[in-house]
Amino acid sequence: MARRRTSARTVDHLLTDFGTHLPRREPAPPEPPPDKPFPKVVGLRARRQAGLGWAPTLQPLAGYQMTSEQTPVMWPLIAGDGLPPTGAPMGFDVLSGGSFYCDPMGWVNDDSIPVTNPNVFIFGKPGRGKSALVKAFMLRMIRFGYRSLVLGDVKDEYEDISRVLGVEPYRIGPGLPGRINPLDPGPLALDWEQQDRAETARRGAIIFNRWLALISGLVGSQQVPFTPTEARIITHVLRDLTGWTTGHTTLAPVTIPMVWKALDDPSEALVDACRYDSRQGFFDRSRALRDALGSLCQGELEGLFDAPSTFQPNWRAPIQTLSLNTLHSAGNEGAIGIALICLNSWGQGIREMAEPGDRRIVLRDEAWMQTRLGVEAVKTLDSNLRLSRNDGDVQLVTYHKPSDPLSAGDSGSQAAQIAKDLLHLADVRILLGQDEEVANELGHLLGLTRMQQDLVTGWAMQDKGRALWMVGDRRFKVATVLSPIERRLTFTNEAVA
Ligand SMILES: Nc1ncnc2c1ncn2[C@@H]1O[C@H](COP(=O)(O)OP(=O)(O)OP(=O)(O)O)[C@@H](O)[C@H]1O
Ligand SMILES: [Mg+2]
Repeated sequence: MARRRTSARTVDHLLTDFGTHLPRREPAPPEPPPDKPFPKVVGLRARRQAGLGWAPTLQPLAGYQMTSEQTPVMWPLIAGDGLPPTGAPMGFDVLSGGSFYCDPMGWVNDDSIPVTNPNVFIFGKPGRGKSALVKAFMLRMIRFGYRSLVLGDVKDEYEDISRVLGVEPYRIGPGLPGRINPLDPGPLALDWEQQDRAETARRGAIIFNRWLALISGLVGSQQVPFTPTEARIITHVLRDLTGWTTGHTTLAPVTIPMVWKALDDPSEALVDACRYDSRQGFFDRSRALRDALGSLCQGELEGLFDAPSTFQPNWRAPIQTLSLNTLHSAGNEGAIGIALICLNSWGQGIREMAEPGDRRIVLRDEAWMQTRLGVEAVKTLDSNLRLSRNDGDVQLVTYHKPSDPLSAGDSGSQAAQIAKDLLHLADVRILLGQDEEVANELGHLLGLTRMQQDLVTGWAMQDKGRALWMVGDRRFKVATVLSPIERRLTFTNEAVA
């Protein structure tokens, strides 16, 4: 039987008539020899041939399949995705070689970055460059409309950048004429008479709460307990002194000596309002409170926080700094801590009416001086950090080591617990160089891996400004670079030069 001739047309040809093709199977690339994963590595001089370009390995490239967990083992030096180039250019990401930008508020607004608050904690051994990093950040954020507020410049080291920006720094200290009233009502008291009842009630509640928090911080720092009884007495005194109780249309100015005097010589109405049956009962219950407040009006703090403010911040200026160096030179760290609490409250007050878009960088350098005064001082910092998301402030806090906040109290105490939780109120932590001893502590408190700990105690110690940046759960190895002018402005080694 004659064989029928089959057509030479293949299925592919047939499909071509319909305008489509069979998918083709690419030939499998040759397997690289097991002992040489990159068989044809081109030398440093590459291959010279027109139009060839340059590639570190030649075709065909070896293909590997592995999980993202295994990849860093094979290629440990390949960096992950960087952060967007917005905000202050700080230096470079050492792993990728790219520029590294710091933009805490931008990170909060970007859902792809795991940051939910703009607070930044900076840790580092003295002299590793904490303050220099802060100063560079402040200067570089000016062009994005950020203004800075240095709440307590303990070493007068922000005065130079302030003068360069054309702002005369403000000094307070024993013997100096300047006064800051921590019980300043702040801008919430402006146009008070024109507000309706609901608005004055709202503003009044904010102001009285802030004052109460301040006084509890001050009293707590003298190791005097501040219980609901003390809170009730102080609330009554503040309301009487401002005229709130009698329904005045303006808020009369109040200072700490006035509060002290009201406790020292209580009116009958105050004794009644606080539900004591006699003046003696009132005296007995408020003795510790009175003495704690009295100590703020005498001694080293006399003439600092006990009169109406003589300083009105210029909110249009790019920076405002409040120097405390005179107090620091006197060597009383307790007094500085108290001064920092007062400045905190004052700073919070003047930010209460911030216009939308009025962005600030608020710096608390050497915050350990404040937090180790005890639980109330830690609570004050805690509440400031919690507010930052709402008012759009970038709060910068510097510490020597992560356990500094914990010095607020004995381990296991309430103060130590709140202080420990403070660490979780900042989604951005910058770890500059530290000594070996601190390494375990760092690892324990901040959840660092062994490699990250070694980075902080090794690589970061080899040069100033080198740090491990923890942005949410991402880690970056960053070297801050200072311009020559910034180097001059951040120079703090006069004493040892
Ligand atoms: N990235 C950097 N490049 C070059 N020099 C730097 C860098 N960072 C800091 N320095 C220099 O190192 C010195 C110490 O820096 P800085 O005062 O910022 O340290 P610090 O951590 O704030 O110290 P302290 O805890 O004593 O306040 C300064 O003279 C500063 O100019
Ligand atoms: Mg410093």
